[in-house]
Amino acid sequence: MNIILLGAPGAGKGTQARILVEGRGMKQLSTGDMLRAARTSGTEMGNMVAAVMDAGQLVTDDIVIGLIAEQLDGPHDGGFIFDGFPRTLAQADALGKLLAAKGQSIDSVIELRVDDEALVARITGRFTCGDCGEVYHDTTKPTKAEGVCDHCGSTNLKRRADDNEDSLRQRLMEYYKKTSPLIGYYYANGSLHVVDGLQPMAAVTADVAKALS
Ligand code: AP5
Repeated sequence: MNIILLGAPGAGKGTQARILVEGRGMKQLSTGDMLRAARTSGTEMGNMVAAVMDAGQLVTDDIVIGLIAEQLDGPHDGGFIFDGFPRTLAQADALGKLLAAKGQSIDSVIELRVDDEALVARITGRFTCGDCGEVYHDTTKPTKAEGVCDHCGSTNLKRRADDNEDSLRQRLMEYYKKTSPLIGYYYANGSLHVVDGLQPMAAVTADVAKALS
């Protein structure tokens, strides 16, 4: 099964993707994570990506489609979770073609719907483990022991450079202009499921599971 998690910045895509990976053995393909890895490379491309991400804008379609194409090369029986990709109609078309070339398709698109007001608190309170990628929040999901990742025990906990109100405003604008048309695109082909992402995490997980059954 191949699925797309769609939603505004902070809607909970990464959180739910990690739960699906653990529960179903699926492979998470997050273009945000791939780009964050690229920006640390120190190359000209990495520096350009860093500037675009910090400004809350979208990286070009060619770059992200190339990153995804590389990841689809090998087989993965558990299926793929596309997290933060596609974000434009051009990316959606490219993904359809890449999967069709492997004799596959998108089985389900889950839109995590969250009010804009809730996103500020989610984004400004988020931190992640720099070693295993576990996602936390100052109030809704703190670590059990302060400064230590529950999942892998690392103390390398980080906040993202683009997790501030100014960047979020720009990211939301990009989402409404370029990504939200995908809701209609996937509704029209019958694969869209809408989940209330404002619920507590466990309730969102249960609704995602229902949508996939
Ligand atoms: P990306 O990394 O994809 O960021 P995003 O889409 O802005 O999404 P986030 O990772 O911010 O949020 P999320 O939905 O995963 O929420 P999370 O689970 O962490 O992209 C970053 C940048 O890279 C983009 O701005 C762009 O520049 C570039 N980029 C990436 N992909 C691209 C593409 N395809 N094309 C072009 N450019 C691209 O949750 C957020 C917080 O809320 C956490 O603290 C979490 O603990 C908490 N939380 C989660 N669920 C709940 C809940 N139900 N209740 C309470 N708290 C919750």
